[in-house]
This record gives sequence, structure tokens and C-alpha cells, in this order.
Amino acid sequence: MTGSDWQHLADFAAERSEAGLRRKLRPRELDHHLLDLASNDYLSLSHDPRVIAAAAEALARWGAGATASRLVSGSTRLHADLESALSRHLGAPAALVFSSGYTANIGAITALSDADTLIVSDAHNHASIIDATRLSRAEVRVVPHKSLAAVQEALATRTQPRALVVTESVFSVDGDAADLVALYAICQSAGAVLVVDEAHSVGVVGPLGEGSVSAAGLAGAPGIVITLTLSKSLAAQGGAVVAESVVIDHLVDNARTFIFDTALAPASAAASMAVLRILAREPELPTRLRDVGHDLHRTALAAGWRSPAPQGAVLSLIVGDPDAAVAAQANWRKAGIDVGVFRPPSVPDGLSRLRLTVKAGLRPHDLALVKTQLEFGPPTAMPGSDPRAHPDRELVLGVSRRNAQVPTS
Ligand SMILES: Cc1ncc(COP(=O)(O)O)c(C=O)c1O
Repeated sequence: MTGSDWQHLADFAAERSEAGLRRKLRPRELDHHLLDLASNDYLSLSHDPRVIAAAAEALARWGAGATASRLVSGSTRLHADLESALSRHLGAPAALVFSSGYTANIGAITALSDADTLIVSDAHNHASIIDATRLSRAEVRVVPHKSLAAVQEALATRTQPRALVVTESVFSVDGDAADLVALYAICQSAGAVLVVDEAHSVGVVGPLGEGSVSAAGLAGAPGIVITLTLSKSLAAQGGAVVAESVVIDHLVDNARTFIFDTALAPASAAASMAVLRILAREPELPTRLRDVGHDLHRTALAAGWRSPAPQGAVLSLIVGDPDAAVAAQANWRKAGIDVGVFRPPSVPDGLSRLRLTVKAGLRPHDLALVKTQLEFGPPTAMPGSDPRAHPDRELVLGVSRRNAQVPTS
């Protein structure tokens, strides 16, 4: 392996092929006729005429992009309005928008930590959180998924004066939920900050889609920092941090992905603002979405699928073997339904799965189609039957495993 001829990359690719882990980009057609259960457009509002009109007006007025960081070119009224609307919607004092949910996590977590901080991170946290913890100068303890005891232990035995506990509220892959009330109590008694990524909760959890922090009765509570994306329920593209004003002021001065990144495009800000207005007028949308999720989950269990109970819009159907999961996805497409497939390193070895995203806009005949497909049941290769899932596998997968994190406590 010399490096300059890229032979090592070709070798890694061959190893990933052998393990069933190659990824392929496929064209996205405008006129495809598949029912979309793969994207994160949870409220089915990304094509809503009111959302498009708001974005188009902003596009015409402000141009195609933000042109620079807001610290260079200034803040548009659209940025300020969206920040006020987000902080009102989530019940927290202040907000700051970023160009993506990814950069919101990187900016918030790196700016709120240093060498005198311990970061305690759930093993199932999203890649953007993992990357943020790696970029921080903090000591990082990855704790087993949803283990309150491990969080408590990590905080109790820390040597650093400050600590952040970072979790998703509804987890992106399994669709299960963190116990925010218990985590907050642990953080408060240990003098730690709780950072909650609400990417899969805003617009989905709570009567008006205020998110899980609010639904847990913690809206506006001190010591909580919320991160979120505008790219799922909020139908556009971008991210935000919602927190106390002192935190937001600190981010303006210190969050590198705010300072050194071109600002959120004004059209995206306008689109998400339009979604928040629609949510206020159509408060039934989040409840409808959750009801559909529970209905489909009941059908899945009855048909023999292994599937964690959905706490939001994510319905995870575990298949096991990565090739079997890809083949199952192809079958669903043949049946007219586009679903996601998650394989390592996005999920642990042996737990490849189909990932369906429930949408508020599914019509009765869409649901009937999905139920028919669910009723065929899972393919025969089930969890644990992946013959290639063994502990040494990460040694042979080269770059593909570098996204994964394992608990350190
Ligand atoms: C939990 C979580 N956080 C952050 C992100 C990143 O958001 P964005 O796509 O806006 O960068 C995602 C996106 O998939 C996510 O699922």
C-alpha cells in the first residue's frame, strides 16, 4: 500500500463490497411514482404551495444564497424572525440558526466544551454529535444506549469542573426515545448541561410538534441546550440551537460553524418559517403522523417484523444481513414504496434494517399499500443470522468503520 496510487482505497472498497457495504448513488427523478417513505419530510410540507411561495419570495428578494457569514453580511429579517419563532415554538428564551443541523451540533458542542469539560455521549447518537465530540478538546465518555446509570456514573467520577451530557430525544435509527426527565434530573444534581438533539422530535412530538423537551415539561428549563435541523419536519434545509440567551450570545462569539460558515440561505429560513405558521393553523398534523406510525407498527409486529415501538416518525424494521436488507429495499421499490436501508457503520453489525419514515400526508390508499407490503413479513435472514457479523470485522472494513462509536463505560 503506497498511498499515492490510491491502491489502499481500492482495497478498502473491495473489502466493503465483500461485506455487502458498498453505497451507490442513484438518480432522483422528478416523475417517479414511488410512495416516499425514505425521506425525512415528516409533515409532508416540503412541496406545500405555502412553503414554496414563502421560499420563492425570499429567493427573489434576497438572492440564491446568504452570500457570507451573518457576521460579515449582516442578518436578514428572515433569520431574526425564524429565530424568534423557533424559540417561541420550543418555549426557550433564544435561538440561533445555522446552515445545517450538522453544523449546529458541531458549533454548539465544540463551543460549549474545552479541556476542562467531560462530554457524556449516548452510543446511538448521530454522526454529527460524534464528530462534534471528536472535534472538542474535551474528554469523551460514550455510554451504553439510554443507560441512566452509566451517565450518572460518568458524571460522579469525573475530574473536570464542567460536563455536557449529549443525547438525541428521538433516536434517528431505532426511533426510540431518551428519558429526558431523568437525564435532566441527573444533570442538574451533577452540575452538568444537557444537550438534546431534537432533529426527529420537532414537528413530531408534543401537541403542536414543540419537541420532546417541551413535551417532558422542560421547555425553558435552565441548563438545557436544544439542537435541531430544519431539514426534516421543517421541510427546508438548515439547523438551529435553542437555549438561554447567555448560551446563544456565547455561540455568536465562539461557534466556529456559525462564524466561519456562510449563513443559512434566506429562502430556507422563509420556508421553515412558513412551516411553523402552518403548524399553528393545523395543529392536528403531529398527532396524525404519530397515529399513523403506531398503526403501521402494529401491522409490522403482527406480520413478524422485529421493530422497536416508534416514538416519532421513524419506523425501523430489522432485517439483520446487509445484503438481505438491500434486497428487501429493492422489493419494496418494486411494490411502489421507497424506503431507506441502514447498514453498518450507521447501525451495529448484524442489525441492518429498513427504515420507514411516517408522513402526516399519507392517504388511506397509501397506508393500505404499505400495510400490504408489511404483511409479507420480514425476509428470512433475521438478526444474528449475518454470518459476517463477528467482532473482528471492524479490522477489515477500513474507512467504513470510522463513523462508528462504541461505549467506553
Ligand atoms: C439526529 C440528527 N442530528 C443532526 C442531523 C443533521 O442535520 P442536517 O441534515 O440538517 O445536517 C441529522 C440528520 O440526519 C440527525 O438525524
